[in-house]
Amino acid sequence: MKRILLEPDFDAWREAAREALHAGYRPEDLDLQDATAPNTLELTLESSELPTGEPISDPHTSRAFLETAKFAAVHRDPQRWNLLYRVLYRLQMSRNLLKIETDPDISELLRLESQVQRDLHKMHAFVRFRKVLDQPHSPILSERPVVIDELVPIQTDPPTHHLVLETTTPFGTVKTDLEPCEPNSTNDATIDDCEHFIAWYQPDHRILPLAAPFFAERFSIMRWSILTPDASVSWDPTAKQLTFAPGLPRESAPAEDELEDLWRSYYASIYNPARLNPDMMRSEMPVRYWKNLPEISLLPELITKSQTRVTAMVTSQQQKSSAQPFVPPEHTLPVLRAALPSCKGCDLYLHATQVVPGTGASKATLMLVGEQPGDQEDLQGKPFVGPAGKLLDSIFEELGIDRTKVFVTNAVKHFKFVQRGKLRLHQNPRMSEITACRPWLLAEIDAVRPRVILCLGASASKSLLGGTFGLMRDHGKVLESPYASQVVATIHPSAILRARDKESGEQLQNFLRDDMALAWQTAQKSVRVPQNA
Ligand code: URA
Ligand code: SF4
Repeated sequence: MKRILLEPDFDAWREAAREALHAGYRPEDLDLQDATAPNTLELTLESSELPTGEPISDPHTSRAFLETAKFAAVHRDPQRWNLLYRVLYRLQMSRNLLKIETDPDISELLRLESQVQRDLHKMHAFVRFRKVLDQPHSPILSERPVVIDELVPIQTDPPTHHLVLETTTPFGTVKTDLEPCEPNSTNDATIDDCEHFIAWYQPDHRILPLAAPFFAERFSIMRWSILTPDASVSWDPTAKQLTFAPGLPRESAPAEDELEDLWRSYYASIYNPARLNPDMMRSEMPVRYWKNLPEISLLPELITKSQTRVTAMVTSQQQKSSAQPFVPPEHTLPVLRAALPSCKGCDLYLHATQVVPGTGASKATLMLVGEQPGDQEDLQGKPFVGPAGKLLDSIFEELGIDRTKVFVTNAVKHFKFVQRGKLRLHQNPRMSEITACRPWLLAEIDAVRPRVILCLGASASKSLLGGTFGLMRDHGKVLESPYASQVVATIHPSAILRARDKESGEQLQNFLRDDMALAWQTAQKSVRVPQNA
């Protein structure tokens, strides 16, 4: 019998199998095994163990076989390569073999496939990402990730403009603007580049290459890595590319961090005592997985604490800032406009002069979303009437767009500022304020049902495209979001007004003009989204 050692890889098996068929090896002449070390692929078949069958130079493979074989190939069963070769060999004589589920080889093949499928489902459900900071621009897996182990708010100058967090890491102190809502600047690409999410997971089978595309699709704008003992994979959201590397020990994933708290509070917020059944949970979710789920540490507490605690939890959840209770069920512009002044969805209404609703064509095909009203907008009650609005008007004019045909609004409806003598200095809204105000924006989108939404700056982009959106990286693309099917993000006009020098101002203005032209043209071509779609 001829023994061939394979890298544990489906393509390596296919190559070996093709050569073996070509040389006339029958299944009983061969033993295909995983190589114990990499690069021991032994494909030279001219040894003393000679084939006893007829050469098959042009082997038949069906799509159905390859699909099933792809799953079976990542199973840990050491005999899977032999099984696959046996089935492939028999398929040459019996083309319908796969349909005979009572055949011992086929039933074994289907058993391996279904176990791998189940493992994949579990992995999709149980992987938990944790946030770490990369050294900017370092290759993702070449160094130990830097774990955020301490976050200390420090004051900066001017004191109220930025919240800078000082992070103590094994590599020294890193200062990060962790309130990455600097919507009118161009630096959030750098901030986002530093964010990296890591998960450690131990699947039953070698399923990482099969599982990775699911995460790439689900978390396409995050930079993430999944580490398993067999292999690791990283997703580059800029290049939209998966990179595989050798496996890593569990310690390479950060142990504790702020995302764990998020998961815990998520779990607490969805906790329903009436539904809690620990035995059922244990059987659904083998204990082996529990270690990956930070929310599990909440379970004993949740189980034993009284109903009062649960009620308190629900109340505090309801008390979280949100405009939702103030948004009327009927989403028409006059109804929304009438309801907006009573909003107390966050604290911003306390100091502003008035709320600023969106204005423009009620059936506009293009909707522009800015950040929040500025000083002039707050006084006049209309969006984009100050300096940023004037610049926007000049771009409308340059592109031949009639502003009255467009709907213009903001992600946050009240002006946020700090008083400095007579001056009211604009302040960036926090992510929590953007989120609190989002129900108004969604209601306006529902009322107007534009074909395309153009987000001006990072705040609007983060509202509709998610917290890790990188403006300099992702502007000028037609993107899909949970809230609208065609969203384009671009530079905020205030970023142009505040540009460092003439040259960078011109470059930013070109971005804004080109992105607006793209959004406008797309809005002319595409089909209006039906109501409640
Ligand atoms: N900046 C904005 O984002 N919106 C306005 O309405 C004015 C300035
Ligand atoms: Fe309501 Fe938005 Fe104003 Fe906050 S900013 S009070 S959520 S309208």
